[in-house]
Amino acid sequence: MSQQIKHEDAAPASSSPTARQTTGTIAVFGATGQQGGAVVDALLDRRARVRVRALVRNPQSDRAQALAARGVELAAIRTDDPASLATALTAVEAFYFMTPAANSLEEVEAEIRVGTALVDAAVAARVPHVVFSSVIGADRERGVPHHDSKHWIEEHLRESGLRCAMVRPAPFMEVMTPSLEHGEIVLRLPMPDDAALKMISIRDIGRVAAALLLDTAEAPGGAVELVADELTGPQIAAAFGAHTGLPARYEALPLSVLPSDLDKAMFRQFAEAAEYPSDLAVVRSIEPATLDLVEWIRSTGWTAPTNMAGS
Ligand SMILES: NC(=O)c1ccc[n+]([C@@H]2O[C@H](COP(=O)([O-])OP(=O)(O)OC[C@H]3O[C@@H](n4cnc5c(N)ncnc54)[C@H](OP(=O)(O)O)[C@@H]3O)[C@@H](O)[C@H]2O)c1
Repeated sequence: MSQQIKHEDAAPASSSPTARQTTGTIAVFGATGQQGGAVVDALLDRRARVRVRALVRNPQSDRAQALAARGVELAAIRTDDPASLATALTAVEAFYFMTPAANSLEEVEAEIRVGTALVDAAVAARVPHVVFSSVIGADRERGVPHHDSKHWIEEHLRESGLRCAMVRPAPFMEVMTPSLEHGEIVLRLPMPDDAALKMISIRDIGRVAAALLLDTAEAPGGAVELVADELTGPQIAAAFGAHTGLPARYEALPLSVLPSDLDKAMFRQFAEAAEYPSDLAVVRSIEPATLDLVEWIRSTGWTAPTNMAGS
């Protein structure tokens, strides 16, 4: 750990600032990945009066070195080595973590081990404030193994007595990958035509988590469901079509196309959750510039893939 973030300006508050804005070191687990990377981006973009410390498995990796080049401290950790976590969380004022993706029941067990180890390390280091990125619907068990795992980690964190907040992201907008087939945008998902899928961009997950870490915003009731838009398959396809000026269609796939039982359970749950509209104003009260799908497509400069057969 060596480098210090330059900070001339305080972060602009995205919501009512609380009395105790974070000014010390913020530790980020998963900083070389999508969500943790977005948290780091948001913290650096805000030019907040904080240092950012990334907890990484391999400080020599290209992604870790890219963080270091931006002024992020690197702390080498192993989640099965409490001493490394204790060192990494020393003198940390706020701590963000997510848990690695799980695609099998064995990986779900590993995910729970990682999450539990990180909570226990935060307790041992007396970290004053922890933000955990779990998943939408993790307020209770729902029979989706890789979501229930996050519910249990949330419970473990809440029972730890640490001051904490949960962000619960909906599916990432980034996973929407329509194809171009014979001059037409085609989106296929294992969701019924009339079920609205909740979604958010990874950028905005990072921004909301950063606001909570910085204490410039609070999570009502200790948790925020991160939903920036909710659209049916035909509406999602139409958004991509409108952006490209091409005709678009949606094909609802049966759950049986999914090779993983975990994903079958997840998409069944997404379709059930579609019956309960989200309050999109909650996320916008924390991050007013949250992107809806149309804005996200525009912001990424999305173009239809050109290498599709028959395009
Ligand atoms: N995809 C979605 O739409 C969606 C929606 C909501 C929630 N989620 C949840 O989001 C999570 C994945 O987040 P993400 O996409 O940001 O992950 P990601 O891009 O795959 O990054 C994973 C990060 O975790 C680190 N990591 C993984 N295993 C580790 C270990 N054992 N010890 C230390 N570091 C480890 C990786 O570091 P290295 O650089 O060392 O590999 C990397 O920084 C999953 O739990 C998933 O269920 C996903």
